[in-house]
Amino acid sequence: ASADNGPSCPGSLIVVSNRQPYRHEYEDEPDPAQMSDPADRDGDPPAGTDGGTQTGTQRSITVDEPTGGLTAGLDPVVQATDGTWIAWGDGDADFAVTDDRNCVAVPPDEEAYTLRRLDLSEEAVDSYYYGFSNRVLWPLCHGFPDLIEDRTDDFEWYRTVNEQFADAVSEHADDDSVIWLQDYHFALAPRMIRESVPDSATVAHFWHIPWPTPETFQHCPAGGHILEGLLGNDLLGFHIDRYVDQFLQCVNRFLPSATVDFAHRTVRYDGRTTRVVATPMGVDAESYDRDARSTDPDRLSALFEEYGIPENTKIGLGLDRLDYSKGIPERLAALERFFERNPDWRGEFTFIQKATPSRTEIETYERYGEQVRNEVQRINRRFETADWQPIVYTEDVLPHEDICALYRHADVMVVSPLIDGMNLVAQEYVAASVDGDSALLLSDRTGAHERLGSHALTIDPTDTDGVAAQLEHALSLSAYERQWRMNTLRQRVFDGDIESWMETQFDWIRRIHDGSRTTESQ
Ligand code: G6P
Repeated sequence: ASADNGPSCPGSLIVVSNRQPYRHEYEDEPDPAQMSDPADRDGDPPAGTDGGTQTGTQRSITVDEPTGGLTAGLDPVVQATDGTWIAWGDGDADFAVTDDRNCVAVPPDEEAYTLRRLDLSEEAVDSYYYGFSNRVLWPLCHGFPDLIEDRTDDFEWYRTVNEQFADAVSEHADDDSVIWLQDYHFALAPRMIRESVPDSATVAHFWHIPWPTPETFQHCPAGGHILEGLLGNDLLGFHIDRYVDQFLQCVNRFLPSATVDFAHRTVRYDGRTTRVVATPMGVDAESYDRDARSTDPDRLSALFEEYGIPENTKIGLGLDRLDYSKGIPERLAALERFFERNPDWRGEFTFIQKATPSRTEIETYERYGEQVRNEVQRINRRFETADWQPIVYTEDVLPHEDICALYRHADVMVVSPLIDGMNLVAQEYVAASVDGDSALLLSDRTGAHERLGSHALTIDPTDTDGVAAQLEHALSLSAYERQWRMNTLRQRVFDGDIESWMETQFDWIRRIHDGSRTTESQ
């Protein structure tokens, strides 16, 4: 199974992720067949509709397609393998499903693979997603043990939902399957899957967020179960070496019956071997490059007019989910320091902070959003003039083309997480900086920093003076240095794009997959 010139998976691929790659929205509309002159119709239902289910109305379907990150990157590969993708879905796919397992063929026009949605109850979502995944594992892995909220039943629901996903996988798996789980929502499922699918199938997992030190991991409720679950994988991937090492140290310390080979990065546990690898994820650099090149300047002008940004100010950009790991208040403090120290830049530099509210049912997130909004307001009041605001803050959902236009136009982007497994936004910015005339301030606590290193302008996100000084430096770099730095960054982002990430993953999987099939046939 192979994509045209793209990465090829060594077996039949089953992807498991929490978020689904396509979201179908249904709306009942008056049926045009009963409203218009029949002579106007060509007999086919209008594009994007199912042809009608109720007298006098028909249901129109809109499909949200993947636009970034993992789902967009994996989608073409799964399409080319005719594989299966299992994800949490909202259960609204009632009439597009192809069988009683709630499967739907996607993408809508090509029907290249099967998307199976698991419709989770409200209680399950509250405990598995808002609970154990995002109130325990997320703060734990990001090194915020004080934010862990260990609520009764959350872990049991996490186990139940992992079981549901594992059952779904085993219904689709065969001898040649490659099962590829994504992220921290499924730490227990690998072991369950391993026990129910044929031995020759391969179970792999990529952990997209950091892995903590043993000192932090000891705060994990049910930590032993989490490690045991993950050791059901044949292959376990992290973005960088440090997370691999910290995972192996945790196994060594908290699972005494496991044998850890630090040199070969393998763990022997319960009769099986798990190989642990560092494979840093990239972005679809070519598509960001292409889309940035084709941005419409009028659109950007309209956007600036809407946000009241004066023409000809230099532009800084921040783009994040509203998450306490992203260091947004720290970034705002550095901006305040910058304007304090550099009165000449007032009215000449505008910082656009686009933020996406996230997991708002969790109080910590709600409060974080409020804190960010209040800080922006306070700083703006301090420095604003009649026709200029230092920070333009928006939570608007912007179309992909506007994001690409902002990336291309921004003179400097500030990526300042307190910790981040990778940070794909930094790489998207670089890929879209097609003019090469801009700079990236990048936190040294991100996975992205390990691969982009010193060609970005390194910052310690908690050092207010240091970030303010780097911003000043970025704005005064010579054109030559800006170009040189950005072009080197671009080279790295293009060399390590999402396709090469998948090729590396599949190479590892192939070694294991082919190995286990040879052993079986002997
Ligand atoms: C991180 C995680 C992803 C997750 C994304 C958005 O990048 O690694 O698995 O999908 O955040 O978070 P959400 O909770 O909205 O899916």
